[in-house]
Order: sequence, then C-alpha cells, then structure tokens
Amino acid sequence: MPIYSDTVMDHFMHPRNVGEIEDADGVGEVGNPVCGDMMTFYIKVKDGKLADVKFKTFGCGAAIAVSSMVSEMALGKPLEEVLKITPQSVAEELKGLPKNKFHCSNLGAQALHKAIGDYAHKNNIKFAGLEELLKEEGQEEEA
Ligand code: FES
Repeated sequence: MPIYSDTVMDHFMHPRNVGEIEDADGVGEVGNPVCGDMMTFYIKVKDGKLADVKFKTFGCGAAIAVSSMVSEMALGKPLEEVLKITPQSVAEELKGLPKNKFHCSNLGAQALHKAIGDYAHKNNIKFAGLEELLKEEGQEEEA
C-alpha cells in the first residue's frame, strides 16, 4: 500500500473547493484513459485573476488530494501564474507522492489549464504559450 504524506491525507480527507460553478467562465475536463479517473475544474475570472475555483474529481485518493491542492495554489492568482503550476510543483506542495501515483498529479494542473483555455477561447484572449502548453499536456494524457 502506498504511503502518503500527512498533507496528501489532509487534502484527501478534507478536500478544499469541491463543487461546481454553475455560471463558470471556463470549464476544463480531463480523464486518465488508463485508470479511468476524471477531473473537472470550473473557474471564475475577475480582473485577470482566478476569483473562484471549484472541482469535481472521480478518482483515487491522490487525484482528489491533487485537485484540492491545485485549487488552493491557484485561487486568487493571476491567470499567467496559474499557467505556471506544474505536476511537479503540486507534488512538492503535497510533500511528495508515491512514484506509482505521480501520474495522478498530471491531471490537476492539466484540468485547470484547460479551464483557462476555455475561458481564453470564449473571450478571445491570448496567453503566451497557452496553446503549446495545452497541446503538450494533451499528449501526456494520451501517453
Ligand atoms: S489512479 Fe487514476 S488518477 Fe490516480
């Protein structure tokens, strides 16, 4: 059985920002085809910053902890900063993930970035490097 850090256990047992935003400005959904887990992020944007973020995750404990941590790391930040969140930075904030669970951390940043992509698309806003980032993360999802 994998050993999880106290931080992972805390976010798994008490996930922050769980839910859905009905009138979200952007929605991003990703799934891992190998394990079948799904993650959806909903965002509200105000003055270029992430004013609200909620998520729904159907997945393993690590995926739930990752979603919760990503939402905390991103809330209130400028969107450009949110785009810099990586699976590695999420895993670090969680004080590490077991090696066989590291793939779960990919989903969090990816779903959130997709929600920003949706927002950008709907509002015709361009973010430097966003298209490339989404493409890169999409390829990882298929790998
Ligand atoms: S096992 Fe599927 S995301 Fe963790």
